[in-house]
Amino acid sequence: MYESACIKKTLLTEDEIKARVSELGRLITERLPGEKPLMVGILKGAAPFFSDLIRNIDLPMTIDFMAASSYGGSTTSSGNIRITKDLTESAAGRCVIIVEDIVDTGNTLSCLKKELESRGAAKVMIAALLDKPSRRKPGVTLDVDFRGFTIDDEFVVGYGLDYAEDYRNLPYIGVLKEECYKN
Ligand code: IMP
Ligand code: MG
Repeated sequence: MYESACIKKTLLTEDEIKARVSELGRLITERLPGEKPLMVGILKGAAPFFSDLIRNIDLPMTIDFMAASSYGGSTTSSGNIRITKDLTESAAGRCVIIVEDIVDTGNTLSCLKKELESRGAAKVMIAALLDKPSRRKPGVTLDVDFRGFTIDDEFVVGYGLDYAEDYRNLPYIGVLKEECYKN
């Protein structure tokens, strides 16, 4: 694997991620007996997690993808995200599990969850590999139903997570040096 001078330390190794994703798959399988969930991966960051997670869930399922970008501003009626790629399947009546790389302020997922509920999903659950609870935006309450790891407020990359589109293919999760993203 290529070495980057910008990685300060490894936060989660490939083996640690693999073990936890397999546990999450088992937990989801146990929580949803008899269900056929619609697994929704949020592009691009969730792609590696999504692909590993679904193969650890022992249930029939269908899969689909969405992408969202934040407006940057904080004053739009539907929260402040824009759906840049939408589902091809209908969420109506489905048990939907949104699969995301990381929950930070919680804004993206709370908006997406509301959106899918408004489309008539029977249930919307959230599976997030990482959670930074200390960053949650005041007023945003978000239930993370399946959480891989709780982490401190550090900027992390790898296993799907990027900085300016780089590092997504690292098989581990590393902390980025501050001088590489703050200036
Ligand atoms: P939220 O809407 O603030 O919860 O933002 C979640 C999104 O912010 C994630 O899907 C990531 O794209 C991005 N993000 C938040 N923290 C990090 C990080 O530490 N590394 C890389 N991306 C991050
Ligand atoms: Mg993302």
